[in-house]
Amino acid sequence: KQVYDVGRLAGKVAMGTANARDLVALRSSLETLPALAGLLEDADAGLLRDLGADLGPLPELTDLLARALVDDPPVVLTEGGLLRDGFDPELDELRLIQRDGRGWIAALQARERERTGIGSLKIGFNKVFGYYIEVTRANLHLVPPEYERRQTLANAERFVTPELKEMEAKVLGAEDRAKALEYRRFLELRDEVAGHLEALQTRARALAVLDTVAALAEVAVERGYVCPRVHEGFALEIRGGRHPVVEAALQGERFVPNDLVLDEDQHLAIITGPNMAGKSTILRQTALIVLLAQMGSFVPAESAAVGLVDRIFTRVGASDDLSRGRSTFMVEMTETANILHNATPRSLVVLDEIGRGTSTFDGLSIAWAVAEHIHDLGCRTLFATHYHELTDLERTLKGVRNFNVAVKEWEGRVIFLRRLVEGGASRSYGIQVGRLAGLPEAVVDRAGEILRNLEEGELDEGGRPRLALSHRVGARAPAQQLDLFAAARERRLTGFAREVAAVEVERLTPVEALVRLDELRARARELLAREAKE
Ligand SMILES: Nc1ncnc2c1ncn2[C@@H]1O[C@H](COP(=O)(O)OP(=O)(O)OP(=O)(O)O)[C@@H](O)[C@H]1O
Ligand SMILES: [Mg+2]
Repeated sequence: KQVYDVGRLAGKVAMGTANARDLVALRSSLETLPALAGLLEDADAGLLRDLGADLGPLPELTDLLARALVDDPPVVLTEGGLLRDGFDPELDELRLIQRDGRGWIAALQARERERTGIGSLKIGFNKVFGYYIEVTRANLHLVPPEYERRQTLANAERFVTPELKEMEAKVLGAEDRAKALEYRRFLELRDEVAGHLEALQTRARALAVLDTVAALAEVAVERGYVCPRVHEGFALEIRGGRHPVVEAALQGERFVPNDLVLDEDQHLAIITGPNMAGKSTILRQTALIVLLAQMGSFVPAESAAVGLVDRIFTRVGASDDLSRGRSTFMVEMTETANILHNATPRSLVVLDEIGRGTSTFDGLSIAWAVAEHIHDLGCRTLFATHYHELTDLERTLKGVRNFNVAVKEWEGRVIFLRRLVEGGASRSYGIQVGRLAGLPEAVVDRAGEILRNLEEGELDEGGRPRLALSHRVGARAPAQQLDLFAAARERRLTGFAREVAAVEVERLTPVEALVRLDELRARARELLAREAKE
């Protein structure tokens, strides 16, 4: 705790904004250099020895600061109290005059009490009148003639004498001169320190690196991190990986470590699983472990082998940037676009629920297309999603592997196991999580009802899911189209209708018309056959 932010302090010195406290902090930091350099000298690690070399002590500067400045100077530079006795003879002399003068004035009180016989006579000081002699009303008749009245109070009068004023002038004059002198000397001192700027910056940099390295080492020891193997291959293999922050923040519950492998055969992991299961946590911990490993840190895992990554791209969390005219979904898409344009086969990409910021169909379509594109890029990717349809990608794309974060259902409740296992998840348990979070019981029940209707495919006359169907009276929310097939079908039919509408009958010869009609009939039959299959 003796070492302060030397880089910042050096900066203030250079800018001429450092005050005396800053220089004391600098001194305190510099005083640790000999011990630090000594410790690092014999370190095993080359990095530490190099840092030790950059942390060479600056004995002259340290000594100058130690001799010059008091340990706890005021912030203000112009009111004195900055410099130690013995640092500057001129200042010492001015301080002596002040001290002598004050001593003389203090002695005057005793002398005058004796001379006048006024036991309660007092010497005081205020900013307006300077030093004065105060006599209570009862004793006014004892006041000697040479006292000059200055101020009358309710119960007392205040006087001065020529010799008191003379001494006062000396004391106050010395004080002003001392303050001015201290200020000048301080500026000189600061300039002197500024002359060592380069040496200070070297040490600031080394201290910053040492601070970082020491903090990483400490956390590695305290939390049982391991040394990762960083290699030039492609595979990323993490055994027993943990999220450094979630792990530290958990109270009571134990953090469940997880394995994860991304390699040529499975470079795109689609992670499904209920809300609150731990999808985002796995995504982030993986990115953090890779980042830590490539920084040269130990990592929170049982073991980790990290094939070098050129960049880590993340698209996580929801945020907007309204002041810059970007809505939540716009931010999401802008970030996704950036990833798709810039990721290379060597990158690590972490996508958390792409497409959730828009309607189900648009979102699913975007998520699907993004997943395909990322797959073809070949970069290692974790893709968390609630679109369970995406698990179908495993069947068509060779680098895709499905995972889910396991939960158990028990007496109608969800138990989070926090384990990443192979395979897709079928449900989101969003409603149960909503109940956990305290949604009103009525809303939770109604949501359950709507979900059942959706799942059982209750359709109305128009072929739309009957969201509204309820044992309670009346229709509620307008029916909304959620069935993927229905949408695709509608698109096909509209396409056909457009084709028919585009036929320019008036410009066709009878034979041409016949040919065209034959084509259209073929298309219609094709459509109907397809319909029958589905
Ligand atoms: N491996 C783990 N061990 C213990 N607790 C965990 C673990 N992973 C996650 N948790 C806890 O579960 C909480 C929810 O995790 P997370 O945000 O990753 O869920 P999610 O699957 O992304 O949920 P959602 O679908 O709602 O985004 C975390 O805040 C953490 O407290
Ligand atoms: Mg999440």
